[in-house]
Amino acid sequence: MSSVLLTGGAGYIGSHTAVTLQADGFEPVVLDNFSNSHPLVMDRLAQITGRDMPLEQGDVLDTGWLSQVLLRHRPAAIVHFAGDKAVGESVAQPLKYFHNNIGGAVSLMRAMVQATAEGGWERPPALVFSSSATVYGDPASVPITEDFPRSHTNPYGHTKLVIEDMLAAQIAADPSWRVGVLRYFNPVGAHPSGLIGEDPEGPPNNLMPYVSQVAVGRRPFLQVYGSDYPTPDGTGVRDYIHVMDLAAGHVAAVRSLLQTPGSFTVNLGTGRGHSVLEVVRAFERVSGRPVPFRFTDRRAGDVAQCWADPTRARQRLGWCATRGLDEMCADAWRWQSRNPQGYRAG
Ligand code: NAD
Ligand code: UFG
Repeated sequence: MSSVLLTGGAGYIGSHTAVTLQADGFEPVVLDNFSNSHPLVMDRLAQITGRDMPLEQGDVLDTGWLSQVLLRHRPAAIVHFAGDKAVGESVAQPLKYFHNNIGGAVSLMRAMVQATAEGGWERPPALVFSSSATVYGDPASVPITEDFPRSHTNPYGHTKLVIEDMLAAQIAADPSWRVGVLRYFNPVGAHPSGLIGEDPEGPPNNLMPYVSQVAVGRRPFLQVYGSDYPTPDGTGVRDYIHVMDLAAGHVAAVRSLLQTPGSFTVNLGTGRGHSVLEVVRAFERVSGRPVPFRFTDRRAGDVAQCWADPTRARQRLGWCATRGLDEMCADAWRWQSRNPQGYRAG
C-alpha cells in the first residue's frame, strides 16, 4: 500500500481527502498542527474508516522534523493542504500569510530534498499542491481555463501565486520532481456520514457555511453581498464543487503523478455556476428550513462570476465532478444539523 502524507490533513478538505484516499487503497498519514482544526477530527476519521489513521502532530515550518517524518513514512506522494486561507485576515496580517503559506511551502520542499538525499531515494515523493481559483484574479471571461492570466487581489491569493511559481522553478531545476497543482473553485458540502465537515471559527466568511448556520438557527439571517451584478438574478455566481468530488480529484492527481511522467496544473471545478439565490433556495429545499436573507452592498474584492472549464482535469486525470447542488446542500445540512456547534461541542 502506498503511503500518502497529507499536510493540513485534519482540515476541511484534507480530512475528506484522507477518507477518499483510504477507500481507494492508499495509506494516508495526517500531519497537522491543529491551528485551524480540531483533534476530534481524528476520532471521526477512525469512525468512518474503521481504523486509526496515523497522525504526525507538528508544524510544517519545522523543516528538520518534517524531513524525519518523511524518512519515517517514505510516502509515495505528499498532498500539501497546510496553510492559512482567510482572505480578509490576509489583508490585515499579510506577514502571517507570507510566513505560514510561503514559508511552509519552502520548508516542505527543503524537507523533501533533505529526505531524498538522506534516504538515498531515486527521486522525491510526488507532490500535489492546493492552489485556488483566486490566482485568476478578476477573470476577463468565463469559463476559466488554466492558461488564463494570473493575478492577485489580496496577500492570500499572492501566496498561492508565489508557491505555484516556486514549484515551477523547482521542476525546471530538477526534472525528477513531479508536481500536480490543483486550482480549487468553491469547495462545499461534507462527507455523507455527517461525521466530518467544514467548521469555521467565528462568523463564516464563505457562503455555504453561513447559510448552514442560518438554517440551523445559529445566525438570524444571511447578508447577500450585492444584487446588481451582471448575472441572471443580480447576485454573484460561483462554481461550487462537492468536497467529496474534490477529494476524488486529489486521488486522481496522486494516481496520475505516480503512473504518468510529468507535472500538471488543473482546475478542479464542475464547469457550472450557481448564484447566491440559487444556493439559498436549494438549501431551503433540502433542509426544509427557512434561510432569511437581506441584500447589502457588494463585498470589496468580489467578482461577478467565476466558474471553471474543467476539460484539462478530465483529459489529464480522467476525473470530473458528479455531484450537483442539491447533494452539496443536503450533505452540508446533515453535517451542520448533527453538529450544530461543529467539532467543539462534539
Ligand atoms: P483548513 O484550514 O480547514 O485546513 C488547513 C489545515 O492546515 C488545518 O487543519 C490547519 O490546522 C493546518 N495548518 C495550517 N498551518 C499549518 C502548519 N504550519 N503546520 C501544520 N499544519 C498547519 O482549510 P481547507 O479549506 O481544508 O483548505 C486546505 C487548502 O486548500 C489550503 O491551502 C487552502 O488555501 C486551499 N484552498 C481552500 C479553499 C476553500 O474554499 N476551502 C479554496 C481554494 C484553496
Ligand atoms: N456571499 C454572500 N454572503 C455571505 C458570503 C458570501 O452573499 O455571507 C456571496 C459572495 O459575495 C459570492 C458568493 O457568495 O458571490 C461566494 O462567496 P464565498 O465567500 O463563499 O466564495 P468566494 O468565491 O468569494 O471565495 C472563495 C474562497 C477564497 C478564494 C476564492 C477564489 O473563499 O479563498 O473562492 O477561489 F480566494
